[in-house]
Amino acid sequence: MSTIIDAIVNRSSKRAFLSTPVTQDIQEKILKAASMTPSGANMQPWITYAVSDEKVLKNIGDAIIDKMESGVEHDQFIQYYPLKWKNPYKKRRLETGIGLYTLMEVNKKDTIKRTEMWHNNFRWFGASTVFFVFCDKDMIDGAQGALIDCGAYMQTIMLAASSFGIQSCPQGSTTEFGRVVADVLNVPDNLALLYSVVLGYEDRDAKINTYQPKRVEMSENVVFI
Ligand SMILES: Cc1cc2nc3c(=O)[nH]c(=O)nc-3n(C[C@H](O)[C@H](O)[C@H](O)COP(=O)(O)O)c2cc1C
Repeated sequence: MSTIIDAIVNRSSKRAFLSTPVTQDIQEKILKAASMTPSGANMQPWITYAVSDEKVLKNIGDAIIDKMESGVEHDQFIQYYPLKWKNPYKKRRLETGIGLYTLMEVNKKDTIKRTEMWHNNFRWFGASTVFFVFCDKDMIDGAQGALIDCGAYMQTIMLAASSFGIQSCPQGSTTEFGRVVADVLNVPDNLALLYSVVLGYEDRDAKINTYQPKRVEMSENVVFI
């Protein structure tokens, strides 16, 4: 049917990339398309740092891993996940995690391997470009609209990227260390990191990239009236 439907249905998060760079020209095309994301009153609250500098990406990753290893659980601007997990979300989260670890034959108790897989977020899964998306702190001080806009922006980035043969992984793992990212990138004080998106050419031989968690039946979350 529509190529838009194909792009939506075929997108899935990738977690192993080739080191092939995404040219600045392609990054600009993706970001130009993403700039057409609708936002309340056309506020366009997203502010993107498109980082492909290997050293800078390494520095961000090192700083986050150091922070984690010092026992800090998060150093963030916004709390992404619920503080009180409840079903059905808790169950879906568990199933998604178990599905990935089962595919990768990682034992539940193998904390070393699981930590390594989590740290791989901060090695950008081998990709060489990451978009870090910020917004002005005042935009989310007592209001959540900008978060809705920036969420739509995330999906537009990923779909636009796919039309250039670029795959992606959205990251809330960086949200949890948003202050560390902001510090290394030395962004203005008024900015808060919301999330990042890893972009690159997927490693088609990597088993992890075959993971495509299913969605619940429509009857579970759609009400037709
Ligand atoms: C806001 C957001 C944050 C996410 N954070 C991470 C992350 O830090 N690391 C990761 O590997 N996947 C992350 N994901 C990917 C989800 O696990 C994935 O979207 C979900 O399991 C559905 O799979 P799919 O994207 O392949 O369809 C995130 C997705 C979203 C939308």
